[in-house]
Amino acid sequence: MNEIELENILSWKEDVIPVSVRFDDPYYSMQDGLKETIYVFLQGNRLSQRFVDNAVFHIAELGFGTGLNFLATLKLFNEVAPANTKLTFSSFELYLLSIHDMQKALSHWPELKSYADLLLEKWPVKFEQKDIHIELERVSLTIYVGDANQRVDDLSIPVDAWYLDGFSPAKNPELWTQNLLNKVYEKTSSEGSFSTYSAAGWVRERLGQAGFNVERIKGFAHKKHMTIGEK
Ligand SMILES: C[S@@+](CC[C@H](N)C(=O)[O-])C[C@H]1O[C@@H](n2cnc3c(N)ncnc32)[C@H](O)[C@@H]1O
Repeated sequence: MNEIELENILSWKEDVIPVSVRFDDPYYSMQDGLKETIYVFLQGNRLSQRFVDNAVFHIAELGFGTGLNFLATLKLFNEVAPANTKLTFSSFELYLLSIHDMQKALSHWPELKSYADLLLEKWPVKFEQKDIHIELERVSLTIYVGDANQRVDDLSIPVDAWYLDGFSPAKNPELWTQNLLNKVYEKTSSEGSFSTYSAAGWVRERLGQAGFNVERIKGFAHKKHMTIGEK
């Protein structure tokens, strides 16, 4: 197998927050990435409750990035989900980050350290042209490597909660196309949900057009709005 060329080049804001040079956008909030993740994705999808109520649960994410969202989810699942429950986490990533960049980004959150260590222990040092599959006790992580627009077709089990976490819609429109959001809707379970930090009107419209009941709620910290919805 050929090694994939690492196409992402990062710059670092204050040597802490990774910023994609390609997309000219940070991977997460300049304010507090972990708190934003908890607010937008975990609370936005009501996961504390749903992890308790469901024996099996499937989350899918557009944009794995540093794995911050995944690790925050793993921590919550570990804390609240009853024994014998299982979580499947599927994520899509076109530009994988090197272990060095992941380590540097994630070292900012000591509360995630034990989880980050588990992930990084299994993170490939060299990427081959294949998906990444990592088992962590009750949690099964698959990263579908490639453009989410094509790879989302490969999801074979319905998704209970989506994290729509592309770079900002203006800078990364490929992750917010009507066609992709229609597929996201099709792959969602009957009581499934999504959340996104984005408050762009056209994103909300497309999600509604795809079939979701869409709601605009207060955004994280200084941000006025974000978007959540259900099937
Ligand atoms: C805002 S970052 C995601 C942050 C991430 N969830 C985290 O926890 O660090 C957006 C991600 O989407 C990825 N991306 C952009 N376009 C993509 C595409 N067409 N298909 C798959 N991934 C894409 C980028 O490489 C980047 O990692």
